Amino acid sequence: MTFKTPLCDLLGIAHPVLQAGMGQVAHGALAGAVSAAGGLGVIGAGYMSADELRAEIAVVRAHTANPFGVDILFGKVETDDQGSVRYAQRVQDQIAVSLDAKVPVLISGLGNPQGIVDAAHQQGIKIMSVVGNVRQAKRVVDIGVDVVIASGAEGGGHVGRVGTVSLVPQVVDAVRVPVIAGGGLADGRGLVASLAMGAQGIWLGTRFIVTNEARGHINYKNKIVAIDEEGTIISRGHSGKPCRLIRNEFTTYWESHASDIKPYPQQLVEVGEPATLLGRIEGDADKGVLPAGQSSGLIDSVKGAGRVVTDIMAEAEQVLSALAKLADA
Ligand SMILES: Cc1cc2nc3c(=O)[nH]c(=O)nc-3n(C[C@H](O)[C@H](O)[C@H](O)COP(=O)(O)O)c2cc1C
Repeated sequence: MTFKTPLCDLLGIAHPVLQAGMGQVAHGALAGAVSAAGGLGVIGAGYMSADELRAEIAVVRAHTANPFGVDILFGKVETDDQGSVRYAQRVQDQIAVSLDAKVPVLISGLGNPQGIVDAAHQQGIKIMSVVGNVRQAKRVVDIGVDVVIASGAEGGGHVGRVGTVSLVPQVVDAVRVPVIAGGGLADGRGLVASLAMGAQGIWLGTRFIVTNEARGHINYKNKIVAIDEEGTIISRGHSGKPCRLIRNEFTTYWESHASDIKPYPQQLVEVGEPATLLGRIEGDADKGVLPAGQSSGLIDSVKGAGRVVTDIMAEAEQVLSALAKLADA
């Protein structure tokens, strides 16, 4: 069973399993391993400089010739006197590196990619956008993105208000481009359920944090293995925007100091970025910021990222066979 959807042909991948672009976690080693296994690996450009991003793209290409993506946080869009779109300097640098390197896929994780759609298409680059509701999905399709990623509130990191099971079919009904399901998915059951809802692939963040290749302290990975489905909470303490994090001293502090939270991006710069380094890189699982989703309860071991892809495909095959027997009964 191949589970090859039209999305696989569009992106040139063997399996409809996409690894979410995650800032500070999804570098070239992770993206390369996922792409080598036939999924789509994605570098989370996050706050990388141009040189760092160039180096991570080289890591992927040293690992595999298969397609991969770069996820950019486009952020706030400004227009100049001529009506042209302008992004922050860091974002402009990441765009320039990605276009120059002709990366196969560009993903807008936050904000609006309208300023680069034409340039990317001229280079043969596909553009995908992460959305959290139907209105955003329609808007990004109107500006020309090729694929929509509908990521629900169960997911790790910044989230919207709508759960995946409600969000995905509504986005599928609203747009004419392929839709990928994200948020709360971690195994073959999630893949089959997403395909049943009309999605053509799955976008997994939390599952891929708990891999050998993901960048991040082992305490972070072990904490995801240790917690159950109630172990995360949506907090504004990290960035000023709702973000799903592992419940710990950091989230408890900001729950009782909500009135002190500054607006985005001030909270992120003053509080979130240092706490991110403390949690994800230094491994302080109590005081640091550790984004993860409700699928943490499904994850019981650290494994190779390529193995995650092949396990999901094997599980999906078993699930579908069991369902077929049910239909025949
Ligand atoms: C540690 C972490 C960092 C993230 N950083 C980004 C990011 O830089 N860009 C982005 O588009 N999404 C980011 N996300 C959200 C993911 O892309 C994705 O939507 C989410 O992880 C899917 O839900 P799941 O965690 O349940 O699989 C991040 C998520 C996590 C857990």
